[in-house]
Amino acid sequence: DFTRLPLDDSLFGTPVSIYRYQGYIFPGQLVMSGVFKELPDFQFRQDDVLVASYPKAGTTWVQEIVYMLMHGCKMTNENSEVLETRFPYLEYPYPGIKSLAAKKEKRFIKTHLPINLLPPSFESSTAKMIYIARNPRDTAISYFYFMQLLTQCNYQGTLSSFIDLFLSDKTMYSPYFGHVLGYWEARHNPNILFVTYEELQQNPEKIIRKMAEFLGMSLSDAEVTYVAENTSFVRMSSNPSVNYEHWKDFGFAFKDKGKFLRKGKVGDWQRHLNKSQVAAFEEWENEHLKNSDLKFSYIC
Ligand code: A3P
Repeated sequence: DFTRLPLDDSLFGTPVSIYRYQGYIFPGQLVMSGVFKELPDFQFRQDDVLVASYPKAGTTWVQEIVYMLMHGCKMTNENSEVLETRFPYLEYPYPGIKSLAAKKEKRFIKTHLPINLLPPSFESSTAKMIYIARNPRDTAISYFYFMQLLTQCNYQGTLSSFIDLFLSDKTMYSPYFGHVLGYWEARHNPNILFVTYEELQQNPEKIIRKMAEFLGMSLSDAEVTYVAENTSFVRMSSNPSVNYEHWKDFGFAFKDKGKFLRKGKVGDWQRHLNKSQVAAFEEWENEHLKNSDLKFSYIC
């Protein structure tokens, strides 16, 4: 079931392996953990709340918004538990799917799984999911920096080599379009809310209100404004419980390779991609979106 794919070793300072499973790319670390055997039996509960995405789409941002919404719109701070404890990552080995299954309290769950690999109990539960999608160019740029930041990847290649990996569906959780369009097609499911990074940037209050309504809450204008302000890029960047700066102390991220909350903009691709790279993206996007009514914004 798992096919190991060749990867140019010189691109990574730390040995990285990738596998294709059910049409998607996963790191060796996930494959070896055995989680794919456990996922089909994972039981969602009626009141679970999930945030799903292709990596670098704004997952952390939505997680923090959802967490605030569901905790009386109170902001988190340096005394709060870190986001990965408050809002664990379903398929990742730490804290792990078993600990999530055993958790007594209401669960907030992050996942990057494509829709075809979601545990089937999602369909029969009333668990709610917010899926966030981001335009592929900004997603790729954000991913490029992230692969350099993580010590487990220690990406050493050029941007151009990374774009080749991204456009040939070799980055983790690719194919990008399979991921995004799979959830886009499921967007009418009443338990799924599909939002984009660009619309959240353009009008955070409007989308936060939409998320709150989806989660069954009715907020005052003041509450919506408060949540928007406290989940802004600037606020989250200085909040140790969501900015992932502690990864640097754990040796999980390099100290001198930038920050998880890097730029937080729509259109940063324009500063990075040359004409021929933009043309390659355009061709790839047109091909994949030709039969879809999903439209991305690329600039704000
Ligand atoms: P950039 O690298 O472009 O800055 P994920 O959480 O899915 O890994 O996505 C990370 C991306 O979302 C990063 O993008 C990060 O800066 C951005 N992001 C996180 N919180 C944000 C916020 N409050 N506002 C805007 N962008 C945010």
